[in-house]
Amino acid sequence: MAEELIPADSDEAAAAAGAEEEEQPIKQRKNGLYPGVSDELAENMTSGWADTELRDLEPIAQAAHTADRRAALSARFPGERLVIPSGNLKTRSNDTEYAFRASTEYAYLTGDQSEDGVLVLEPQGGGHRATVYLLPRSDRENGEFWLSGQGELWVGRRHSLAEAEQLLGIPAQDVRELPEKLREATGPVRVVRGHDAAIEAALTDKVTAERDEELRVNLSEARAVKDAFEIGELQKACDSTARGFEDVVKVLDKAEATSERYIEGTFFLRARVEGNDVGYGSICAAGPHATTLHWVRNDGPVRSGDLLLLDAGVETHTLYTADVTRTLPINGRYSELQRTIYDAVYDAQEAGIAAVKPGAKYRDFHDAAQRVLTERLVEWGLVEGPVERVLELGLQRRWTLHGTGHMLGMDVHDCAAARTEAYVDGTLEPGMCLTVEPGLYFQADDLTVPEEYRGIGVRIEDDILVTEDGNRNLSAALPRRADEVEAWMAALKQG
Ligand code: GLY
Ligand code: MN
Ligand code: MN
Repeated sequence: MAEELIPADSDEAAAAAGAEEEEQPIKQRKNGLYPGVSDELAENMTSGWADTELRDLEPIAQAAHTADRRAALSARFPGERLVIPSGNLKTRSNDTEYAFRASTEYAYLTGDQSEDGVLVLEPQGGGHRATVYLLPRSDRENGEFWLSGQGELWVGRRHSLAEAEQLLGIPAQDVRELPEKLREATGPVRVVRGHDAAIEAALTDKVTAERDEELRVNLSEARAVKDAFEIGELQKACDSTARGFEDVVKVLDKAEATSERYIEGTFFLRARVEGNDVGYGSICAAGPHATTLHWVRNDGPVRSGDLLLLDAGVETHTLYTADVTRTLPINGRYSELQRTIYDAVYDAQEAGIAAVKPGAKYRDFHDAAQRVLTERLVEWGLVEGPVERVLELGLQRRWTLHGTGHMLGMDVHDCAAARTEAYVDGTLEPGMCLTVEPGLYFQADDLTVPEEYRGIGVRIEDDILVTEDGNRNLSAALPRRADEVEAWMAALKQG
């Protein structure tokens, strides 16, 4: 990749982006401003381009739903200006950026995923008027389209503001004018923090951390119950994820010849081809790495006879993610002890899934799964009973380690800012989606368990939708029972 013609840190670059330059055609600014750009080239580059404006665009599928979401937010904060940024590119080095992912709050309310976008809800009448502020198409007259690092010639065509309005169903304006507008505006205002430092700076004297947090909490809780569109997206995420797991099983011999990275790369290919990305760093944990809960280094060996704990999820193009775990025998058959531990986790997951239904307490599925795991740990003599005593003291947690699940949606740990009473102390409702993911983990250096247990980790994780009459397992395309897993692997390896 060639370098930009404007050094990113030069005074000239700053001037080129400045307002006073906008009125001057490039050829009048050339002297020393753009090294290596002749008058003739500057003149030449401003002309000869076709009109590519897109007209009569259909709204994106989310548009009908995002209007309802904005209406709910408007009703909660009457008379207040609400500012929800998408976020900015983050520099990796020099003029190279990390992959951008729009903030969940912004994407949830607009359906848009542009960097630098900002949704503003202005109080109007009894409600609000929504405007989405975006970077418009690059100007061809002033050279920005080919001389600026964010010019369309470098990063690709953006939608014009008129196109964005049609797609999103929201009036669009130039985001470069927004900081000044926010500085001049009066009246109460809140911003979702952590995504756009320049927007926050423009509001710095007008907002408080406490009031902004209330906005973030509200948006987190609003996402707990999914609408029909969201449920469809979560199902797509789970279906792509199931295909990604199949891809991995088919190449386990190549992973054995290389490392866990082969598994990570294989799943990533599926995620990028069918979706936007992985929804979180894939956990490709072979052998004793399975006992490290968030093993994402994925640089270890893959050995026949060991287990592979694969925890991975495809994120759809609309930013909904699956979160699925299977613990697979790398050689296709569980050993006797692996199967015993696996079956305990399976039974715990079954008990957990059975506890997911409308009206149940959120904590019920965790308690149900923990009880089954504790019964087995006592039965195996790893901890002294009775079971009630172990549960009361939480002694099983040396091996169960984590909660049995969490809300799932646009974020893998969705609704994370929700208040305790609205989440872990809350009640399940139809449309909520959560993971049920019990596990047992015997660390390689755990001297309290027999040697043969050490280095074995098992987790089984599925994505469970609360329905009117119980639940639906969105990730049921992947087998869970030990014998079914073995048969599935055998069939894939033959195919
Ligand atoms: N993949 C992270 C989790 O299961 O919560
Ligand atoms: Mn999970
Ligand atoms: Mn997971």
